Amino acid sequence: MIRKKLIAGNWKMNKTSADAVSLARELVSAIGSQSDVEVVICPPFTSLEGAAKAIDGSLIKLGAQNMHFEASGAFTGEVSAPMLRALFATHVILGHSERRALFGESDELVNRKVLAALKNQLRPILCVGESLAEREAGSTLKVVQAQTERGLEGVSRELAPTLVIAYEPVWAIGTGKVATTEQAQEVHAFIRGLLTKLFGDPAAQKVRILYGGSMKPANAPELLAQKDIDGGLIGGASLEARSFVELVKAAAAAS
Ligand code: 13P
Repeated sequence: MIRKKLIAGNWKMNKTSADAVSLARELVSAIGSQSDVEVVICPPFTSLEGAAKAIDGSLIKLGAQNMHFEASGAFTGEVSAPMLRALFATHVILGHSERRALFGESDELVNRKVLAALKNQLRPILCVGESLAEREAGSTLKVVQAQTERGLEGVSRELAPTLVIAYEPVWAIGTGKVATTEQAQEVHAFIRGLLTKLFGDPAAQKVRILYGGSMKPANAPELLAQKDIDGGLIGGASLEARSFVELVKAAAAAS
């Protein structure tokens, strides 16, 4: 397998900076020196600096949960790619369904962010996924295709292998309802096919496609065993060291 599995923790709007530092330290002592699986933690902006210091010297990487596409300027409340880079962030989650649904982010906006991230040597974790109504209407693949193609417009073949895509069915996020392995693998393989059309097979084979949506230590082994599931974007189970560490171990076992 040419793709190293990737487990990313999306802490969402959780943890004060002190709590974030303690969790990051716990993770460093448990999994800070393993290299079988790539591990990224994505704390809120206010905890990035503390978390960066806590993971310094370990193999754990740092990601943000969002960013603005401009480098600086009059954008009250926003944070830019160079600011994230200055805190040693290497990844940024973009187009999460919560940002799309609650903050009105369009594919066009997400695309500008993807391009800005790449320009600043940040790896985008582009989130795509259908709602329950869309799945029931039979439009899952159409929705995922539009979000993927529009989100990646203008990305070069050279930079394509650095992308990470997260398939997160909206109906599975925070609900305890996990997609079946067949449902997830079908969409992951479909996304890989889209990437092949956009960037060619060698690049598409290098892109990690993560599953997100109620991934837990109990359901992870089966999901991670699928051919095109290269890891997980973990919400709830990333907020506690024990479950997150178990997920990393499950990914190592599936490698
Ligand atoms: P849960 O793991 O809590 O379902 O969240 C998934 C998610 O949205 C990760 O970005």
